[in-house]
Amino acid sequence: MMIRLVEIKKTYQTSSGPLQVLDSVSVHIKAGEIFGFIGFSGAGKSTLLRCINLLEKPDSGAVFVDGENLTALTKKELLGRRQKIGMVFQHYNLLQNATAFDNAAFPLAIARVPKAERRERVLQSLETVDLSDKAGDYPSKLSGGQKQRVAIARAIVTKPKILLCDEPTSALDPQTTRSILQYLKRINKELGITIVLVTHEMDAVRSICSRVAVMETGRLIETLDMSKELQPPQTGLARFLFASGAGI
Ligand SMILES: Nc1ncnc2c1ncn2[C@@H]1O[C@H](COP(=O)(O)OP(=O)(O)OP(=O)(O)O)[C@@H](O)[C@H]1O
Ligand SMILES: [Mg+2]
Repeated sequence: MMIRLVEIKKTYQTSSGPLQVLDSVSVHIKAGEIFGFIGFSGAGKSTLLRCINLLEKPDSGAVFVDGENLTALTKKELLGRRQKIGMVFQHYNLLQNATAFDNAAFPLAIARVPKAERRERVLQSLETVDLSDKAGDYPSKLSGGQKQRVAIARAIVTKPKILLCDEPTSALDPQTTRSILQYLKRINKELGITIVLVTHEMDAVRSICSRVAVMETGRLIETLDMSKELQPPQTGLARFLFASGAGI
């Protein structure tokens, strides 16, 4: 599904006064692409990502998903649309006292999907991330990469059209990072899921993103097409990120 953000603004009230975190951010993410957001800590990347499924409500602006304005929906309608948008986080957010299977099944249990169908879909999701043999294991027995794969299985079990990823590899070593990125790419290609990837790591952008938006203090300052190697970055920050490679 395509996503269009139009002039998104967000200001938090903090103890030291109002803090503008998003300043008229507009971006168009095409259906089927892997789109990155990169920038320094505090640039507003996570806030913007959460605006896409309205976990964070913008002060003004609009969020269109497949042409529908999510900001104009009722709460109930929004809950329905959110089922088409999965989410993956840096720290996995798994239930420690539930097996990999039960973690992946969680969204279906909430949605009261019948047990037989639940089982089939969970096994399929675990298979997609090559974790069929770990279905009965608890998170404490799994490596960081395996935990993130359980989290990905949980995110795709509801058959979303969009996957929002907030620094999904930031807690992982370089080799595991590459593996997780390849799973995201597989999901994008094989399941046709549009992926939005927030990251600090230029290498992650290089390996799987079709385009990347560079964010600085709440503003989107540049969007780059990763297939156009010859297109030079226009802003200092984008040049720095491209030159620095690994991370910031
Ligand atoms: N609920 C909140 N209340 C007040 N300020 C907040 C809140 N959430 C975020 N902020 C502030 O908004 C700014 C942007 O935060 P955000 O988490 O979106 O940045 P980020 O780019 O994701 O950073 P990081 O790379 O560290 O994750 C930061 O200055 C942060 O402290
Ligand atoms: Mg963040």
